[in-house]
Amino acid sequence: MIGIIGLGKVGSTVAEHLVLRELDDLVLIDIVKGLPQGNALDLSHMASELDIEVKIKGSNDYKDLEGSDIVILTAGFPRTSDMSRLDLLQKNKAIIEQISSKVMEYAPKSKVIVVTNPLDTMTYLSLKITGFDRNHLFGVGSELDAARLTFYLSSTLNIPRSSIDTFVIGEHGDSMTVLGSHSKVDGVPVKRLLNPSEFTDIVDKLKKSGAEVISLKGSTTFGIAAATSSIVESVIKDKREVHLVSFYLDGEYGFRDVCIGVPAIIGKNGVERVIELKLDEDEEKRFKKSVEVLKKSIELLMEDEMYRGYLA
Ligand code: 2OP
Repeated sequence: MIGIIGLGKVGSTVAEHLVLRELDDLVLIDIVKGLPQGNALDLSHMASELDIEVKIKGSNDYKDLEGSDIVILTAGFPRTSDMSRLDLLQKNKAIIEQISSKVMEYAPKSKVIVVTNPLDTMTYLSLKITGFDRNHLFGVGSELDAARLTFYLSSTLNIPRSSIDTFVIGEHGDSMTVLGSHSKVDGVPVKRLLNPSEFTDIVDKLKKSGAEVISLKGSTTFGIAAATSSIVESVIKDKREVHLVSFYLDGEYGFRDVCIGVPAIIGKNGVERVIELKLDEDEEKRFKKSVEVLKKSIELLMEDEMYRGYLA
C-alpha cells in the first residue's frame, strides 16, 4: 500500500499518477475533512472507467497509514512566485515535524519520499525526526529539475526527449548545478552540442521554470507528480533505475550531514547506491555552494529550540 499525506494540488496529482501506473492500493491522508475522501472517490471513479483495480481510501486519521510500504509527504504550504523555497522553511517545518512523527508511529518500516518544499531541508528534518535509515527516506526535487532540463534541451536542439539523459544535482532551488558534461544526447555531452551562451540561457531558464509555472497557473503539479511517481515505481518494481533524489550524504561527494540532490540507483530498498560522478572544477564549486546554502538553512532550523534536540 502507498500512503500519501497531504491532498492539495500536488498530493492529489501524485495520487492520480500512481493510480494510472497501477502500482498498488492507496491511502490518502489529510487533516481537512472530506478532502482525502473526496479525492479517493473521484480517483476510484477514474480507475473504474479505466479498468484499473487499485483500491483507494481517504482518511483524516493517520492510523490508516498502518501497512503502508511507501509514504509520500506532500503536506505543507505551497511556494508562491515571489518566494524562494527557503522562505517556505519557516512555514513548513512544523508540518513536517508533525507528519514525520505520525509516519514513525504508524508506518515505521515504510520507505518515505518527501516532496514538501524547501525540499532538501524538509527531507533532512524528516530524517532526523524519524531516525529512519537514510536509504529509506529521501526527497524528490532534482528529478524534476532534470526533466525540465530535458525539455529545454529537446526544444533548443530539436531532438526527441528520449535521446536525452540529464543530470542536475545540488539544491532543489536557486543553487542547483547542471552537469553539462554528464548530461548527454545519445552519448554526446550537451556542452559539445551547445555554445556556452546557449548553455547558460538554458540553465537560467531551468532555474526560473518552477517560479514561471507558479506565476502562470498558481502551482506546479504535473511535473512533480510525474517525477515522484517514477521514483515510486522504481521502488515498487525494484527497477534499479537511476533517479536524482535528495539524499543524506555521509561522505559521498566529500560532504556529510546534509540532504542534497544526487544521482542514485532506486530499488526495493529505496536508495540502493549513490552514484558519485566526477565533477569538473566549476561543477564542484557550484555543488559546494549548494551544500553551504543548505547547511545555512539547517542552521536556521537549529535556531528554533524545538528542533535542536533532533538536529544536534
Ligand atoms: C517546483 O520546482 C515548486 O519546487 C516546486 O516545481
